Amino acid sequence: MPTDRVYGSDTFREHDMKGEKMSDKLQIALAHGDGIGPEITSACITVFEAAGVMDRIEFVPVEMGRRVFDSGETRGMTDSAIDTIERLGLLFKGPMGTPSGGGGKSINVTLRKALGAFANLRHFQSLPGVETVYSRAGVPVDFYVVRENVEDTYGGVEYRLSNDVVECKRLISAPGCDQLHHYAFKTAKAFGIDKITCGHKANIMKMTDGLFLDRFHNAARDYPEIETEDVIIDALCMNLVLRPQQYKMIALTNLQGDIVSDLAAGLVGGLGFAPSANIGEKISIFEAVHGTAPDIAGQNKANPTSLLLSGLIMLRHIGMKKQAAIIENALLYTLESGVHTGDVRGAHDPVGTREFAASIAKNLGKVPSDRYVRDVPVEDAPSFEPPERPRVNRLMQTYRTTESAVLGCDLYIETLLAPHDLAQKLELICASSPFRLTMMSSRGTQVWPTGSVYTEVVDYYRARFELRDKHMVGRIGQTPTIHLFEKVAETFAVTNFQLLKEYDGKRGFSLAQGQ
Ligand code: NAI
Ligand code: MG
Repeated sequence: MPTDRVYGSDTFREHDMKGEKMSDKLQIALAHGDGIGPEITSACITVFEAAGVMDRIEFVPVEMGRRVFDSGETRGMTDSAIDTIERLGLLFKGPMGTPSGGGGKSINVTLRKALGAFANLRHFQSLPGVETVYSRAGVPVDFYVVRENVEDTYGGVEYRLSNDVVECKRLISAPGCDQLHHYAFKTAKAFGIDKITCGHKANIMKMTDGLFLDRFHNAARDYPEIETEDVIIDALCMNLVLRPQQYKMIALTNLQGDIVSDLAAGLVGGLGFAPSANIGEKISIFEAVHGTAPDIAGQNKANPTSLLLSGLIMLRHIGMKKQAAIIENALLYTLESGVHTGDVRGAHDPVGTREFAASIAKNLGKVPSDRYVRDVPVEDAPSFEPPERPRVNRLMQTYRTTESAVLGCDLYIETLLAPHDLAQKLELICASSPFRLTMMSSRGTQVWPTGSVYTEVVDYYRARFELRDKHMVGRIGQTPTIHLFEKVAETFAVTNFQLLKEYDGKRGFSLAQGQ
């Protein structure tokens, strides 16, 4: 029979290799991580054991991180690790280093995206005994960030388009937005949160951020009891610094969410205190927000709070709410009583990672002062069901009935010609096609037919061709635009082609600045 111990049990590992279920406990994949990872995961397990969590769950170690990268596997994880995570649906992980340069992609990002962990939930709360500008001013901070985790520029879909220009594609999908927003509203409801703020830049990026915002308000209709507001991302950043207490939950796209969540971590004392959960329909990943802290690795100095708080989100996710609240109260009591690791500002007489964990274990059952205390619910048994493996990738769809029609195309051209010289040549080329040149822009700013001579241009233009005859809308397919592409390509280096379409009569592309 397996024991609750995760470390040093060779029998445990052997059994896991065969993929056998060893007991009735809920199994969770565990990756210790690199750097301080093993120290902080082991600190969390110490606390879990003391709180009786390990009577109900069992960690199955998986191989990921530095050692796997070093063995030449560029994904940084073994097939059997991925298989175990897919089978169990839950991963608790320490931080992992990404080799900089070279081909290796971040394991953390790859995992979230590949396994469909579409929402990144982070909790930012003032903690007792952790001094910040706000705690000193008596301003309580307690809010969640729900960040989209799969799409956006984080797709890392990038191209070099000319000698001087590179591009990153920002993909935002309606189902992706819907998934995130519904998760945010459901979570708010479950946590008793009565207001959600959607951060965006829809005033500038009307289509991508516009879609994110539109789907937010659409999702909100299903949750009339929750108040909503939206705010432009830069104003949100300022408000967060000035009045963080006004926020309860904030929904954000991937990159904006990445930046705002680190800003938010700063409000509550730094990355060492912010937990993070990557939630999917089927598979979820729980990890600390900080990295591997190589400077203090192996020295018993690391603060396990961030990972422990992530572990508490995990316990709540699987239904062990009682143990989560008891541990959280003990953690808060420990911090409040001044027991701190060395990274905590103003820590007198800091303790080590192991000693900190031992203190929390000893304080189980104790509670911090009133304003921090967590209610202890009765639910204490895991209710999580591991996913059933789907046979094919799930197709998500939001809009099913749109009618679309081709209006023309944008051709992206690498050239050193001045705008008017290029326009002259392009007008000649398209003269015998159904399209006319309507606009040219450089770096998004219109430079032809009108524009300022002060607009500085680079070696890369966008040339917009639209149907001459409006009556042709709906009567042509994409083939004439491909013929135009071919003709332009006989003279110019066309580095990109983009179809211009309307959907249900609405323009499916943006105008240039100044158009
Ligand atoms: P880092 O978060 O590892 O360290 C930044 C600073 O904070 C260091 O001075 C470190 O000692 C301190 N620190 C971090 N966590 C701490 C803790 N729990 N207790 C006490 N002090 C702590 O960020 P850095 O140095 O930029 O990245 C190091 C490595 O971690 C890189 O390879 C990076 O790719 C990886 N990383 C992994 C993440 C993940 O697994 N989710 C997230 C961020 C970085
Ligand atoms: Mg980040």
